[in-house]
Amino acid sequence: MKQQQVKFYYKNVTAEILGSEHGITKEQFNQLAQKTEPLIEQLNADRKVGKVRYRDLPYQKDTVEKVKQVADKFGWCENFVVLGIGGSALGNIALQTALNPYMYNLDDKQRKGPRLFVLDNVDPQQISSFLGWIEGRLDKTVFNVISKSGRTSETAAQFLTVCGMLEQKLGKDSLKKHIIATTDLKEGTLRKTADRLGLVSLDVPDGVGGRFSVLSAVGLLSAAVCGIDIEQLLAGAAEMDKKVSQQSFYQNPAAVNAAINWHYYNRGKRISVMMPYSFALKDFADWFRQLWAESLGKAKDLSGRMVSVGPTPVKALGATDQHSQVQLYREGPNDKMFTFLAVEDFEKDVQIGSSSVTAPQLGYLVNQKMSRLLNSEKIATEYALAANQRPSVTVAFEKICPYTVGQFIYLFEVSTSIAGLLFGIDAYNQPAVELGKDATLALMGGGDDAKLAEKIKPFMEMDNRFII
Ligand code: PA5
Repeated sequence: MKQQQVKFYYKNVTAEILGSEHGITKEQFNQLAQKTEPLIEQLNADRKVGKVRYRDLPYQKDTVEKVKQVADKFGWCENFVVLGIGGSALGNIALQTALNPYMYNLDDKQRKGPRLFVLDNVDPQQISSFLGWIEGRLDKTVFNVISKSGRTSETAAQFLTVCGMLEQKLGKDSLKKHIIATTDLKEGTLRKTADRLGLVSLDVPDGVGGRFSVLSAVGLLSAAVCGIDIEQLLAGAAEMDKKVSQQSFYQNPAAVNAAINWHYYNRGKRISVMMPYSFALKDFADWFRQLWAESLGKAKDLSGRMVSVGPTPVKALGATDQHSQVQLYREGPNDKMFTFLAVEDFEKDVQIGSSSVTAPQLGYLVNQKMSRLLNSEKIATEYALAANQRPSVTVAFEKICPYTVGQFIYLFEVSTSIAGLLFGIDAYNQPAVELGKDATLALMGGGDDAKLAEKIKPFMEMDNRFII
């Protein structure tokens, strides 16, 4: 049986549609092909020698088996809570929103597993409300603490809070029953804690950074627990792997995607808007924001030269943001490139009602499919943007299912790698995040960097001269 596909469509960036000032001409496409093809080869070669470890995640049979065993073992829980942040949370949220129903947590009839919560922050008001709710349900709750480094302060704070609560309410021995740790195989504070407490644990594979880890145990466990077919997810990623490994530029959707984005960045369109026309895909726009921003926003290129590059990813949602952002997108500065996500065949549809009180002017809507309205709005926006010479590409899902979601994830991960090579930067590090982490440590009294603590002092209190 032919599986559902994800298709990458890019006619609306061409000069044929946008004219030669804002559109990409055939000659320019051929130049992009010439520039990008050697980089595809380089990426494939780097992957072969183990330098791009996330590329092999679709084939990790042992991990899948282990994840399924752990999911079964903890199948008794009614609430599954992910403690993590950034790359250790965004993929989990995105998979859940994409592949489980909107009312999953609220409607017992619509859920195939426990309720899922992903904390992804240390906001006291949010967490205190959550703790107030979960406190009386701890005996039916499992916490999955996820941290590759094992020393991220937000995750550590969530973890300590939960451990304290479990110990107090259910006793010290309860930790083993209620906590699963996902972390580095050998290193880090969380690995040591997990081993010392005898927690069930899963590994974040070596060489796979947080934002590239959704297809590892990081994203797979909560998905499997909540009834998502993780084998299909990886099978979809494996199919996309074949496409994005193609040496020929025009056959390779990740290469074309990366090259279009790079081309526009160099021509002043430095904002990259991802706009799903699907609620299910909306959190993938958040996941993409992290992937694109942390990977491509870099001060130095690979030779150490200051370049300060990086497209700014922005998320929008169709049709909602047609009534919020599209005015700016059409008539404001022509400095954006758009990526629409569209769904051809929604799993569930709604027939728009007919009512005796309907005004005749609304008759055009009566008995129509809601999917037709949403998809017409997507085409209308695409057309309207093109009418103002704004370029867009579309990633079309034949259907939203684990297989197509796996394809989508892999497509954008490899697009990011190729874009990194085009920009000539290291897409896999995040040095700029470290200063903020160290400064937080110093402010919380946890670091030993006295100089840094001194430098932060002026920021600790508001300067009266500038308060109005
Ligand atoms: O992509 C990344 O590396 C980061 O966003 C990390 O995922 C994030 O900082 C959390 O790190 P950790 O998993 O080590 O707690």
